Amino acid sequence: MHDLNKIIQSLHPLERVILPFLKNGIDLQTLVQKSKLKDVEVMRALQWLENKHVLKIVSKVSEVVELDHNGKKYLAEEGLPERRFLTALTDGLTLDAIKKKAKLEDDEFNGAFGLLKKRAAITISADKTVKLTDNGKKLLDKEFIEESFLKKLPLQVSKFSPEDKFAYNELRVRKGIIKTNLVKVKSIELTKLGEELSKLKVSSEFIDALTPQIIKSGAWKSKKFRRYDVSINVPKIYAGKRHFVNEVREYAKRVWLDLGFKEMKGTMVQTSFWNFDALFTAQDHPVRELQDTFFLKDPAKGKLPNKELVERVRKTHENGWTTGSIGWRYSWNPEEAKKNVLRTHTTVLSGRTIAALKRSDLPAKFFSLAKNFRNEALDWSHLFEFYQFEGIVVDPDANLKHLMGYLKEFFVKLGYDADKIRFKPAYFPYTEPSMEVEYFHPVKKEWIELCGSGIFRPEMVKPLLGKDIPVLAWGGGFERSVAEYFKITDIRDLYKNDLKQLREMKLWL
Ligand code: PHE
Repeated sequence: MHDLNKIIQSLHPLERVILPFLKNGIDLQTLVQKSKLKDVEVMRALQWLENKHVLKIVSKVSEVVELDHNGKKYLAEEGLPERRFLTALTDGLTLDAIKKKAKLEDDEFNGAFGLLKKRAAITISADKTVKLTDNGKKLLDKEFIEESFLKKLPLQVSKFSPEDKFAYNELRVRKGIIKTNLVKVKSIELTKLGEELSKLKVSSEFIDALTPQIIKSGAWKSKKFRRYDVSINVPKIYAGKRHFVNEVREYAKRVWLDLGFKEMKGTMVQTSFWNFDALFTAQDHPVRELQDTFFLKDPAKGKLPNKELVERVRKTHENGWTTGSIGWRYSWNPEEAKKNVLRTHTTVLSGRTIAALKRSDLPAKFFSLAKNFRNEALDWSHLFEFYQFEGIVVDPDANLKHLMGYLKEFFVKLGYDADKIRFKPAYFPYTEPSMEVEYFHPVKKEWIELCGSGIFRPEMVKPLLGKDIPVLAWGGGFERSVAEYFKITDIRDLYKNDLKQLREMKLWL
């Protein structure tokens, strides 16, 4: 399954250094000693090897013997008291003289004396002087078992040799020489792959970094390059980036541009005339009430456009003008039309665009992706400030099938499965026929509306353009349409600006 050769070629220099020492059960400390690397280097190499499935790092709590304060002192400078005793001993010295010469404390002296006697290294003569025995001479020439043991510390109790065990038992009853601690010990278990790998001789003939020298000298020709392991765990880098919703916004704009649409732009504050009246929305329509629309306090009113256009809109509302309709049959009030609102939909831009079109501009396609505002109660699928994607196709030859085609195309580009969205008859004051695009929400288990659409009514098109031709139109909730991709079920979460979410959100691809 794993290609041994590939692994060998991807080994980091540190991994290559520790490879010859790897065997089942070997612990971190031993590896550090054998490889002469630093702890962190060995640890890093082990982690990399673990990622390559060469070994597993296991950590166990284990009893470890370490030097205590006296042990450190003896090992570093003075030597064990018994060593100092023997070294100070010359013929004719009394015990007191030796104690002084060797600079031994009472308890050090007592311990050393007892021990040397027990080992038959010294005898006391009748004149109270101390003599070295043959045994003592032998001892003096060699390193004591205790000394070798101290040099090995720290050492796991479970790894003791018989000599270690002996030295340990001797030393642990003495004051402050050694101590036993419970520590976490990391050791390794080789995998099958690791067993194989550790048997191979791995050459160090790999180039890890390309330098100008290597290129100039041509040394690279006879060497191999180390393979990069792109699957390895590395520290995460959170680079600065755009908000993920903005990322998709740019993408969605690109989609419309690529389909030949031009962008419509406009202000967020609009008169009711453009936001409602020009869209054949009657002045008593509930959408124009305070609980649905944000009206401006200051300036509360704006200007109406040219008289001719206003007249056409008035007549259409009142009696249908020449559109073939009988209108809404009420007396149209220009003051109502002057009221400023925060635009409630980007369809306001579509109306304005149509009003500005010249006949020679036709056919023409426009889109916008911009912010709108509604005095709405917030919930998982409603924001009071939200983006809409909007579009119109002004074309004498356009029909409903084209409309469905454009929308399908767009939703597929947003990542939807074309079979999972449906078109459903709907109603808008300015379209006939009207359709909604819906999508079955997999978590909420209900159909939710992504987009309204239709063909603009003559009551809207004729006053604005001067003649009635088919205008395909749509406007949809952008946040709702992209939340699914990011696995966000409550669209309020899109903008919660939680750092973790912003950092870890998947990219728009
Ligand atoms: N303006 C409608 C809305 O905000 C959407 C729509 C646009 C419907 C164009 C039909 C035509 O929901």
